[in-house]
Amino acid sequence: MIILSPSLLACDFANLESEIKKVYDSGCRYLHLDVMDGVFVNNISFGLPVISSIRKICDIVFDVHLMITEPARYIREFAEAGADIINFHVEACTSDEEIFDTLNLIKQQGKKCALTVKPDTPAEALEPFLGELDMVLVMSVEPGFGGQKFIEGSLEKIKYLAELKRLKNYSFDIEIDGGVNADNITRVKEAGANIIVAGSGIFGACDIKSAVEIFTAQT
Ligand code: DX5
Ligand code: ZN
Repeated sequence: MIILSPSLLACDFANLESEIKKVYDSGCRYLHLDVMDGVFVNNISFGLPVISSIRKICDIVFDVHLMITEPARYIREFAEAGADIINFHVEACTSDEEIFDTLNLIKQQGKKCALTVKPDTPAEALEPFLGELDMVLVMSVEPGFGGQKFIEGSLEKIKYLAELKRLKNYSFDIEIDGGVNADNITRVKEAGANIIVAGSGIFGACDIKSAVEIFTAQT
């Protein structure tokens, strides 16, 4: 089953509640929340007060993508704000030990844990941690901004992770994030991704419901 996780980054922030209701009413049960600190990436988005405020709107799964340095500092706060999945970057940590410790902090909060690689980081960087993860996220654009062009090389990473998952009987979901649209969605699914993030492709569409249908239709 394909899960669509619309990225709030592309929504109309003047109408946050109605934007979230639109994707929920269109059948989406995940919401991708991009948290950027202006240090790990060259942009600042939103953080804890926004997440805890929108937690009251509906019971959609909060798929929180942390683009922040030293994510361990804020795991408890994001869990308390209402995150369901907490996802951070291997590049945001300085050692394997730090990554394991951060994953443990997420688990101690009773949340699902996920790990992400930027486009220039090989999928092999995720390997030591795969047995611990509920989800891997392959970035198919440079993190920081929505509306960028899909990087084709990401499909090979997805295939590699899907094959490892099959061979070693792992249970993690495979999420892809960045530049996914109606033209590449079929290839993304065929490569093995089962959670699809889409920002401009959903919130930028004139008809959100039909955009959701296109993204979630089975191949
Ligand atoms: C980029 C973010 C993405 C972004 C995706 O750093 O992680 O989630 O919002 O937006 P689109 O689908 O427009 O590429
Ligand atoms: Zn994201």
